[in-house]
This record gives sequence, C-alpha cells and structure tokens, in this order.
Amino acid sequence: MSIDFKPYQRADDFGTPLSASNREVKLTVDGEEVTVAEGTSVLRAAAVAGINIPKLCATDSLAAFGSCRLCLVEIEGAKGLPASCTTEVRDGMKVRTQSPRLADIRRNVMELYISDHPLDCLTCPTNGDCELQDMAGAVGLREVRYGYDGANHFDAEKDKSNPYFTFDPTKCIVCSRCVRACEEVQGTYALTIDGRGFASKVAASQDQPFLDSECVSCGACVQACPTATLTENTLIEKGTPEHYVITTCAYCGVGCSFRAEMKGQEVVKMMPNKDGHANHGHSCVKGRFAFGYATHKDRIKTPMIRETIHEPWREVTWDEAFTFAAQKLRGIQEKYGRDAIGGITSSRCTNEETYLVQKLVRAAFGNNNVDTCARVCHSPTGYGLKATLGESAGTQNFDSVMKADVIVVMGANPTDAHPVFASQMKRRLREGAKLIVIDPRAIDLVRSAHVEADYHLPLKPGTNVAIINALSHVVVAEGLEAKEFIEQRCDLDAYEDWRKFILDERNSPEAVEEETGVPAETMRAAARLYASVPNGAIYYGLGVSEHSQGSTTVMGIANLAMVTGNIGREGVGVNPLRGQNNVQGSCDMGSFPHELPGYRHVSDPKVREMFDKEWGVTIGADPGLRIPNMFDAAVAGEFKGLYVQGEDVAQSDPDTQHVTHALSSLECMIVQDLFLNETAKFAHVFFPGSSFLEKNGTFTNAERRISPVRKVMEPLAGLEDWQATQGLANALGYPMNYSHPREIMDEIARLTPTFTGVSYAKLDELGSIQWPCNDKAQAGTPTMHVEEFVRGKGLFRVTPYVPTDERTSRKYPLLLTTGRILSQYNVGAQTRRTENLKWHDEDVLEIHPHDAEQRGIEAGDWVGLQSRAGETVLRAVITERVTPGVVYTTFHHPESGANVVTTDNSDWATNCPEYKVTAVQAHKVTKMSEWQRNFEEFTEEQIDLLRRARTGAEQTVD
Ligand code: SF4
Ligand code: SF4
Ligand code: SF4
Ligand code: FES
Repeated sequence: MSIDFKPYQRADDFGTPLSASNREVKLTVDGEEVTVAEGTSVLRAAAVAGINIPKLCATDSLAAFGSCRLCLVEIEGAKGLPASCTTEVRDGMKVRTQSPRLADIRRNVMELYISDHPLDCLTCPTNGDCELQDMAGAVGLREVRYGYDGANHFDAEKDKSNPYFTFDPTKCIVCSRCVRACEEVQGTYALTIDGRGFASKVAASQDQPFLDSECVSCGACVQACPTATLTENTLIEKGTPEHYVITTCAYCGVGCSFRAEMKGQEVVKMMPNKDGHANHGHSCVKGRFAFGYATHKDRIKTPMIRETIHEPWREVTWDEAFTFAAQKLRGIQEKYGRDAIGGITSSRCTNEETYLVQKLVRAAFGNNNVDTCARVCHSPTGYGLKATLGESAGTQNFDSVMKADVIVVMGANPTDAHPVFASQMKRRLREGAKLIVIDPRAIDLVRSAHVEADYHLPLKPGTNVAIINALSHVVVAEGLEAKEFIEQRCDLDAYEDWRKFILDERNSPEAVEEETGVPAETMRAAARLYASVPNGAIYYGLGVSEHSQGSTTVMGIANLAMVTGNIGREGVGVNPLRGQNNVQGSCDMGSFPHELPGYRHVSDPKVREMFDKEWGVTIGADPGLRIPNMFDAAVAGEFKGLYVQGEDVAQSDPDTQHVTHALSSLECMIVQDLFLNETAKFAHVFFPGSSFLEKNGTFTNAERRISPVRKVMEPLAGLEDWQATQGLANALGYPMNYSHPREIMDEIARLTPTFTGVSYAKLDELGSIQWPCNDKAQAGTPTMHVEEFVRGKGLFRVTPYVPTDERTSRKYPLLLTTGRILSQYNVGAQTRRTENLKWHDEDVLEIHPHDAEQRGIEAGDWVGLQSRAGETVLRAVITERVTPGVVYTTFHHPESGANVVTTDNSDWATNCPEYKVTAVQAHKVTKMSEWQRNFEEFTEEQIDLLRRARTGAEQTVD
C-alpha cells in the first residue's frame, strides 16, 4: 500500500489568532476588499487577503505583542505608522502595506537584527526554513551598514542539556515568542527575558540549563521560535524535511494531531497540527519528541515460534507462524473445548485492528472470550454512564472547557497524563474559571504557576463514593438543584428514590468527614460552588474508575451533574479522561465479552442476526470470559490458549504473581507487539507488531473523536497489525480478505448505528469526527444529550457507599495508590526506549515525612513495600504531596513490580481492578524482594532465549 505524502512546506501563519466574534468587519488592504471577524488584527486581515506583511514577533498561536516593529502599515486618517499585529480592523478602514517609507523602516529594523546575527546561513540547521532569513529577503536587505565588529552575542554558549532540542543564544532576536508560547500555549511559565536592552536574553527558570529548569519539554517554544535559536535535535541531525503526512499521536487519550515531517521514510520532526481539533497545534513531550522507539534496536521484526517458554525462539516466515498458531489453537479446542481459548484487544491499536481481533474471536474462535485492557481502566465508565445517561462515553469535546465556570477534577492528573488538555484547562483557569480538585495527592493543578485550586479535597483512597454522595447531599439539602432540568429531562420516579436516599443523614458531609478525611465545611463549600455557577464541568480519571466501587462513583458523578443541570450544552458535562490513545475506540469496537460493536449486548438476537449475516457465522448469545476470569480459568487448567494484541498484561494487570501463574499455565500464547515485553516472555508465538507510523487506521480519543492514523513508513516486519490478524483468521479457516483498513471501517459503519456516517473519505474531508455520526448527525456530535438523554430520560441511580474490603490494619497500616508521570507512558515499553528516561528512570515511592520518620526512612533509601498480594522494593522520595497514611508510586518500569503489590480486588460491576487502594506496610531494606530476584533471573533467561533465535543474530534487547 502506497504512502500518501504531501510536499513539505511550513504551515500557514496568519500572524495573530482567529477572532471568535460573529460580527463581520469590511476593510480594504492595498485596495483589496476583505471581510473578517471583528477583533481580527490588520496583520491577519491582510494575510486572509493573501497579502503577507513582514513580521517577526507575531505568530497566530500567540496574542499580538508588537515588539519587532516590522509589521508597520499606513492607515488612512491614522497618525503615524501603527503595528498591524496589534491594530484591530475597523469598518471602512483603508490599509496600505507597501510604500517607500515603510520599506525603508523595515529594512532598517532588519539591518539592526542582522548586525547581531551570525551569518552562517549555509550551515544553519534551519537554512531555507527560517523566518528571519525570509524577512531579510522580503524587505530587500542587501547590506548591513553597521558591520559585524560591534558588540554582539556571537560567543554565547549553546545549551544542549535537553535531549530533544538545542538552545543557541547566538541566534536569538529576543522576540519573546518562546516566552509567550510557554505562558500562553503551555502554561508552564518556565521562560523569561532576563536583563534589559543589549543584555536582554532568554532564561529558563533561574537562568538554569533547560533540563534543570521547570521546563516540561513540550516544545511549544521550539515551535514558536522564528530563528534557529531553539531547534529540534533531529532537525539539526537530519536537515529540513521533504514531505509530510497528517496522523494522530499514539500515546494518550487526548489524541493530538501531528504532521509527521519526513525525509524519505525517516521522521525528522513530529509537528503538532494547527488544524488538529483536539490539540490546535500543541503537544507534549511524548507526542512531539518520544517517537524514537519506533525504530529502536529492540524492535522484533521477524515472526517467532517455540514449543515451550523455556526453549529458544525460532524465527519463521509469517505463513509458518500463522500455521503454527492456528494448529495449536485448534488442537487446544479439540482437546479442551471451544471455550478454552480467547483474545485480548489493545487500546494502543487502531479501531480497525481492535474490531478485527474481536471478530476473529467471535467468528473464528467461535466464542465470546474477548476482552480489552479497558477492563483494567475505564470499564466502570462504560457501565456507569450507560446506566445513567444512556451512552458509554464522555459528553463533551475538549474545547467545551473554555466555557466552564467551575471545573471539577476528580481522580485525574491532567498535567501528567493528559498534558495538552491540561494546558487548555489551565488557560481557562487563568481566564477566571474556578477549580475543585478531589484527589488524595496534591497534583500539580492544586498549585502551579498562575493556577490555584479553590478547593482541594484530599480524600482517603477508597472513599470516592462517600465524597460524591456528600456533594450531592449538599446540593439537594440546600435546595440548589436544577428543578426545571430535572423535571423536563430526568426520570422522576428514579429521581424521587434517589432524592430520599441522598438526603439521608449518612450521606451528609458531617457524617463522612472522618471516613473521607476531608473537612465537612470544605465539601459543603465545594458543592455550593459547583452548583452555583451557570456551567460546571466534571473531568475524572482512573482515580475514579479503578476502585471496588468504580462504577458506583461514575454513576454518582452523573447524578451530581444531572441534579445541577450540568449536561447537554457546552461548558458542562461528565468527561472521563481516557488513559491510552484508543481506550474509547477499543470499547466502541466490541472488545468486551458481553458486547458487540456499538455497546450492544450479545444476548440481543436482532443484533446478533446482523453480525451473523455479515460474518457468515452464528455468534454465541452468552457473554464470554473477562480478563480476570481468563486468568482464573487458566490457573484452574480450563483455559489454554490466548491471543494478546498490543497489551502487556504481565506488567499492567494487578497481582502480577497470579497473572504470571496464569500465563505459564497456557499451552499456546500468541503475543503481537513491537518488543519482547513482559507478557511475550511467556509466549509461544510472537507476531512482530507495527508502530502507529507504519499503518493506516483510526484512533478514537476521550472526546469520542475519530482521527486518522496514516502510514508514514512501511511496516518494519512487513505486515500492519490488522494484516497479521487477518493471516491468523485465514489459517484458522475463517476467510478475511480486506485489502485496506478503509474496508474494515466501512464494515464497522454498516454494523454500528453510531458509526453509519463514518468513512475514510469523510475523515479526509473533515479531519476528524466525533461519534455518533449518522443520518441525524452527519458531521458528528460534539456535545451529547442536548435535547434529551441517549436513553430518553436521565436516570438517577442510588449509589450507597460501601467501604472497600481493602482496609488498613496493624500489619498493613498505609494505603498505596498509583498513577502516571508526564514523561512515561503506562508500562513504559515505548517511552523507556526514548530519551524520556532522562526524566524518570525508575519508579519511586512517595511517602509523607511523618510516615518516613516513624520508620526511620530517609530520602533515597530502599523501601520494602508489602501487601497481602506480594512484596517489592522501591527507592523512597519524602514529600508532603501525599497525606500521612498514604504512599504513592508509578508503574512504568517492570522491575519495580508495583503490580506485585496490588491485589485482585475489583469493581463490583465490571471487575476493573482496585489499583488505587492497597493496604501496605513500608520498611527500610537493603536488598531486592524475592519477586524481584526471580524476575531478574527469568528476564535473563528469556533474553538469552531470544538471542539464541535461529537466525537474525543482530537482534538485541535491553
Ligand atoms: S529563542 Fe527564538 S523565540 Fe525566543 S526570543 Fe529568541 S528568537 Fe525569539
Ligand atoms: S519546552 Fe515547553 S515548557 Fe519548556 S520552555 Fe519550552 S514551552 Fe516552556
Ligand atoms: S497530550 Fe497525549 S496525544 Fe497529545 S502529544 Fe501528548 S501524549 Fe500525544
Ligand atoms: S510582527 Fe508586529 S510588531 Fe512584530
């Protein structure tokens, strides 16, 4: 399949941002009549008319600044020569952009800049793609009268501390674009202009190297810089790109759109797409810079097979691998029954790939034993939102946050896990929206540059339901309900039942104060604030779902939004922040054992009939096994074969020792991945995967936005992931003959009511589409439940608080909770193979000074962490970010064994594991845990077995 490249050119820049006004203004620029929105700058109006006024300090991602004086124009009737970037259009305005006087002034301005700029254009990394160079040409600069012998900055030292970009101050024109990008776009405020006049210079934090500063390496400053002062290292190494392809980031659920800017089949830069609907030209360190894993030496590029997990791998052809896998799976079914095998789909893979895996299981395996990693993250979202609102998805688009008056962030850490959306949220907070954070930890949003939460509710892990009920209790008890909304939009019988329940004194803030650890008055004040504004929006994450009462909390959140009328318009809503890039999509595509694509239950004969007809099989009416059931059945000897696409259950799932016991009990495990991950060490068949750069398809982000994933290089192992699934299906005797993923999407659209209007042609036309997209909503649906709820009337659900069984005790007196960090991504298989390791090369244990002192633990000590499930050892970081009694870690490094400690407790409705609450003890130790020693030994054995693969001796692994 060919790659659809576009020739490289810098993205259009209109100089100042688009005005949101609906009022139109007419003016003339150089005699051309132009109509633009009120509030537009003269610079932008000219650009709209195709007239490019020279500029340097202006760019359309930043507010006008007016410092370089290059964009001066003449305006009829106006005094002097105003800067066109800071001058707004007026009706009837007559603008002249070219005159001898203007040309003279512009040349003089450029002359001054160039007199302190090294003239090494020919060897400069941005030669040919530099705004300063362009402007020198545009104003016709031919000589510099001042010479180059005066005071200059040519000796200033480069800062190469950041692994991804270089700061070369000799080329800086002090236009402040970088400083403003860090403030306005990213919201980190890491940069300043230090000093005055000739001495002024860009400084990171306290004039520190970038790596040691507050910089989070988002790259917004690099993107904004008009010169080669801030430049990507890949560009310095590889030179200007030749062509580009628009695609979507494969990391988090924000789903940022990028231009993959290429030379041949090599990525030079990942440039955030200004037209991207989820990111509007911004990105974080992962999407922009951490793409090197795709060509890392650890990539496995040849299919491999083996009979047992203690023998060396054998490299084979794809066909041999398909035949071997198919024979094994059929053999197991003959011996143990049809239900002894199953599959796990991946939220890192495309919709089309996920759809195909569940189809393979249902049609070729002949059972419903398919599940997805969303089981262990957001399955309670699906359940809770469907039960209350009628659809298993968030209600808004990201831009909706710009209309919110109060933002509630519960059990989520957007600045680390959803950074680009966090930047947008921070922009709204700087505009004056209020913020309520409900989280055991003081996440960055609680207090960071120019952002401070109005209320932080640092609840004890496991008490979400008690908190959310208490907030609703206050709303109802104090008469703050949206009575009209409830009357018109909600099921009144259910509301009355719920109202009685929620008014019960046991749900009052005072009654749950001790249990939650949050002062009753803070809960009351937060509830009043949320209920008192026109628009209140709730954003939540895994700190809500990954609990034994995850589904209950999700329903409680929906109740709170309904009782305050905060559903069905912009600025409000219930918004799950999905962790991985395609969690929403993998759920939409029928990855759960009880649901076909579009969240339709397998027991519905009409739905099954549709699929039976299209697929030419008879689908079973009973739900299949969930992931934890598969593991239990494997340990019991009843489940023997598993196909895992793009997941690393041995690292990501709770109670690692139980998981690895289950995996070692299998007779055939097929793993499809980029690397020999932890799960693959237990595999018998390895299908080498394709990275997001090597395939076509779509991802669906947390806003229900379907975005195109487009191939920029040929798959290193020869096949895209969907082709490998197709190969296995054919080897199993179930024919699949797709020639392009667009055909898979067409099939999805035929079978899924919320997708009937989706096609690759429409995606090309619109850029992205938020489902539902069908006859009723041909261009998609940014806001859901506008006129009525998807289920008709909104259904309040009674949500009693049931404390988790995972309680502290004398033996386990602390509560462990887990989360993510900005620079790493989930199991870390990708980000650990990039320079992001510079920021986080090990998982550590955060512990409060009080708890540390009691145990004689000092910063940097090794700490043994014991739970009922197991023990691991981590290095201590002593911090007041966690409250006394709570410890915290991340799970990005397999040897940390965070999930050796987490238990198999899970959500009552969905089996989503309770990662966020584990009773533990911590004590100072001097050596690794037994599990860690065994892990190291097993890893060494598996790496050796990989090295001894029959051919391809050049392959190495870390
Ligand atoms: S580093 Fe670039 S963007 Fe920043 S002030 Fe210098 S030239 Fe302008
Ligand atoms: S990379 Fe991002 S955070 Fe760092 S200085 Fe630049 S804009 Fe600021
Ligand atoms: S915010 Fe998420 S989707 Fe966007 S660049 Fe970062 S990791 Fe990728
Ligand atoms: S572009 Fe207008 S003053 Fe710099």
